[in-house]
Amino acid sequence: MTADRIDGKAFAEGLRERIAAGVAPFLAATGRRPGLAVVLVGDDPASQVYVGSKHKATVEAGMLSFEHRLAAETPEADLIALVERLNADESVDGILVQLPLPKHMRESAVIEAIDPDKDVDGFHIVNAGRLATGLPGLVPCTPLGCMMMLEDRLGRDLSGKSAVVIGRSNIVGKPMAQLLLAANATVTVAHSRTADLPAVVRAADIVVAAVGRAEMVRGDWLKPGAVVIDVGINRIAAPERGEGKTRLVGDVAYAEALETASAVTPVPGGVGPMTIAVLLRNTLVAAHRRAG
Ligand code: GUN
Repeated sequence: MTADRIDGKAFAEGLRERIAAGVAPFLAATGRRPGLAVVLVGDDPASQVYVGSKHKATVEAGMLSFEHRLAAETPEADLIALVERLNADESVDGILVQLPLPKHMRESAVIEAIDPDKDVDGFHIVNAGRLATGLPGLVPCTPLGCMMMLEDRLGRDLSGKSAVVIGRSNIVGKPMAQLLLAANATVTVAHSRTADLPAVVRAADIVVAAVGRAEMVRGDWLKPGAVVIDVGINRIAAPERGEGKTRLVGDVAYAEALETASAVTPVPGGVGPMTIAVLLRNTLVAAHRRAG
């Protein structure tokens, strides 16, 4: 059997078009466009690329993009003061502080300074609590994007399905598990201390891999027909492409997974493109909630 490749890029393009189509009615009703503020501290090259992509996508969706770039040595109190100004700014619906922050800053203190109703990353403890208790809130972009692709494949109700989430981060693993649980799946959260991970994965109809270890999940770990969502983005050496060349792979051995699974997200082109599309979706949702 050869599994279907879940085309995250096409899925994300569709979502971005729907969001862009939703901006016009918001503008007509409120007289303003949804606004997203992105804060970048320091000059980490990967973060600069992400922030540039977010800006471009925000403008393409017809929203306002406010970029704030601060020097790496900015005091934490100055960053928090900026967040507080953005909280009070009526033209800002969403605030995203790009992570990681420089070592002298406490990420939790900065995240908790964001107004939960503008927290389009869904990282604030209030939003984590809302998700865990089934209240409406803002949900982290990557797990929500994974859930949308799963729903497209399996429907909204995952009753009777077993799911394993590999990884227990606050950004992906834990919120992913909550979303699966809310959809009635029977959920296992596996991590680096789990005994016999292959056996745990073999029992699952749905596998979400978010561990950050290149091609760790092998094809023979999978239950036949499983749906596999690969959140990992790992850069590995690719000597076959020439000396010093690299390539991106996921946490799942993709070619092997295609032999056993029913559907697999590729890396790149799977989960990655969904994250920014969901960020735009969260910004529009936050704008509507704030507009009442
Ligand atoms: N750094 C890498 N991914 C993300 C993300 O989704 N949100 C934030 N704030 N920082 C990131």
